[in-house]
Amino acid sequence: MKHKIGILGFGTVGQGLAEILLSKKEELKSKYGYEFDIVAVGDFKFGNVYNANGLDIPSMLKEASVGKKFSKDITDWDNINLIKNSDTSVWCELTFTDLVNGGPAVDHVKTALKAGKHIVTSNKGPAALCYPEMKKIADENNCKFMIEGTVVAGTPVINLADGPLAGCKITKIRGILNGTTNYMLTEMEKGMPYDEVLKVAQSKGYAEADPTGDVEGYDARGKVTILANIVMGAGIKITDVPCEGITKITPKDIEKAKSQNKRWKLIGSVELTENGVDASVKPEMIDISHPLAGVSGATNALTFTTDLLGDVTIVGPGAGKIETGFSILTDLIKIHRG
Ligand SMILES: NC(=O)c1ccc[n+]([C@@H]2O[C@H](COP(=O)([O-])OP(=O)(O)OC[C@H]3O[C@@H](n4cnc5c(N)ncnc54)[C@H](OP(=O)(O)O)[C@@H]3O)[C@@H](O)[C@H]2O)c1
Repeated sequence: MKHKIGILGFGTVGQGLAEILLSKKEELKSKYGYEFDIVAVGDFKFGNVYNANGLDIPSMLKEASVGKKFSKDITDWDNINLIKNSDTSVWCELTFTDLVNGGPAVDHVKTALKAGKHIVTSNKGPAALCYPEMKKIADENNCKFMIEGTVVAGTPVINLADGPLAGCKITKIRGILNGTTNYMLTEMEKGMPYDEVLKVAQSKGYAEADPTGDVEGYDARGKVTILANIVMGAGIKITDVPCEGITKITPKDIEKAKSQNKRWKLIGSVELTENGVDASVKPEMIDISHPLAGVSGATNALTFTTDLLGDVTIVGPGAGKIETGFSILTDLIKIHRG
């Protein structure tokens, strides 16, 4: 069966996914029997396009790379009509994240699932704010709501818990879920003050012009909420998770950690307790010998505590065009394999 892919949001991740699918077309076919056409793309900046026989992705990537609107296969369907009317089997929802209301992504996801089309997404909004509702709609319509990319990009976390760690009871997940703040803490340890580090992080593209989502821990809180609900079935809301960022860490705090052979990390944590699931995001001093203490720069890492394996730590990129594009590919292949 040839998969008919639609992509909503042709920005960094959307283009990364398109590049991967193009470059691996033959490998995906020969290795996994995965065959596809990208038939629909919807994007604010570049326009909405549809061709049931497959879009001309190389020329779309070329146009997008110079900020030009798509010139072929233009449709006047808006996003909702594009999702409903197009002959697509799966939609990749890659528009912007809204961790307050979910943004248009929630409507995109609902529309696709109700039309019996799978969803693969790296957008934390629908997953962090309304996973149970989305999953229910997916189940009712016999399709999948896949969200590997919402936590630590393509580094396997959700699929690790669901796949290789199946059979283990996961009692705790703790880790570094935000690359921007980890980069900043790493630099602060070298002696640079917070304000200066923030400017460098912004100049390197790690931190946004408005860094609130990262430095106040809200991005990590979205991921913690997803892990709590999906891996541990907590049924919690994002606002239930206590959250403190890194803005109050002073040079004195950095020195204090050093003197105790420790290091500050912004830790997202989810733990099964007798009373349910405890989840939080806060800066913690981690002993230098712990695997998480050795994770520096923009890298992410998570330690799963399990009953049968003890601690399992996974370290990898938490962002990036290809790294996040890969998270979408991995879920597309998972859907293909059933
Ligand atoms: N980049 C990463 O490394 C990374 C990692 C993990 C997760 N994610 C998540 O993945 C998603 C995509 O990220 P990204 O980095 O690709 O973002 P991006 O570069 O900003 O791309 C998003 C694209 O979607 C378009 N768009 C926004 N709202 C839309 C709508 N309602 N309908 C159609 N198009 C819309 C944007 O157009 P305009 O620019 O005109 O608004 C832009 O072209 C986000 O939810 C992000 O949080 C990203």
